Amino acid sequence: MRIAIIAAGIVGKATGVGLEKKGNDVVFYDIDTMKLAQLAHEGREIASSVGDAVEQSDVSMICAPTPTVNGTIDLRPLLLICAEVGRALRDRKSYHLAVVRSTVPPGTTRGLVIPRIKESAELPSDSDKLGVCHNPEFLREKFALDDFLEPRAIVIGESDAKAGTVLGSVYSSLKSPIIRCSLETSEMIKYSANLFNTTKISFFNEIHNACKVLGAEPETVSRAMPLLALGLRDDLKSQPDYDPKGARGPRAHSQWLRFFRSYHSGLLGR
Ligand SMILES: NC(=O)c1ccc[n+]([C@@H]2O[C@H](COP(=O)([O-])OP(=O)(O)OC[C@H]3O[C@@H](n4cnc5c(N)ncnc54)[C@H](O)[C@@H]3O)[C@@H](O)[C@H]2O)c1
Repeated sequence: MRIAIIAAGIVGKATGVGLEKKGNDVVFYDIDTMKLAQLAHEGREIASSVGDAVEQSDVSMICAPTPTVNGTIDLRPLLLICAEVGRALRDRKSYHLAVVRSTVPPGTTRGLVIPRIKESAELPSDSDKLGVCHNPEFLREKFALDDFLEPRAIVIGESDAKAGTVLGSVYSSLKSPIIRCSLETSEMIKYSANLFNTTKISFFNEIHNACKVLGAEPETVSRAMPLLALGLRDDLKSQPDYDPKGARGPRAHSQWLRFFRSYHSGLLGR
């Protein structure tokens, strides 16, 4: 399949190089000419514009940055690219799949991305020439390509079944489970994963501090925890295996809080 990577930053480059390794024909475009020159130097195909990249491709992977400006997500780079993708599709006769890889708030792909591409492509809203997916990325910057090639799961939010099937075939050579869902669900999965990660970081920071106060080994506790703790073992279970009404949860919490408060107020005779 011929795939256009629009915005070749960390996610875009890992996506393009990974898909090339899996036998696809990949062309890269980025607004940063230095990045393009580097990609060309590495022997990769580059395009001179979004139009140039999209025109000959079956699939466009949009990996636009989504920076935070004044505490709010800035969707302007993404929507600018969407307008250019749409313009490139104006005279196209064959089907095209546009894939949003950026992290965006639930509702963005359906409410802003699809209308922007269709309007710019001059396509009627019920056109079947365009499919759109939201396909979030979960890679770590330091291991971008490895994580792209061995994801824990591939999430495909789809505008319709055909779009999801086409994107599923792009990933067919990867062994990971594929989760197909609505656009909003996919967008929400990515935010949930990010929020869960920040919650885990805060949790382990608290545990680390408590270990230091209590003379326990924080590194050993952190290593053992994911092996043992319920809920960390099978994140993808649809039924939570932790019952907040069950005896263990609340009792463990209240016992710990009582113990640690007492410890701090010196009741344990430190
Ligand atoms: N970096 C990560 O670890 C990571 C992981 C998962 C998801 N994400 C998400 O993926 C998205 C991309 O993140 P990233 O880390 O790859 O960003 P990045 O800053 O590394 O790359 C963004 C690229 O977009 C290019 N660009 C900006 N405007 C453009 C335009 N109009 N046309 C073409 N190219 C343009 C920039 O030159 C840059 O190369 C974001 O939504 C981010 O939240 C990032």
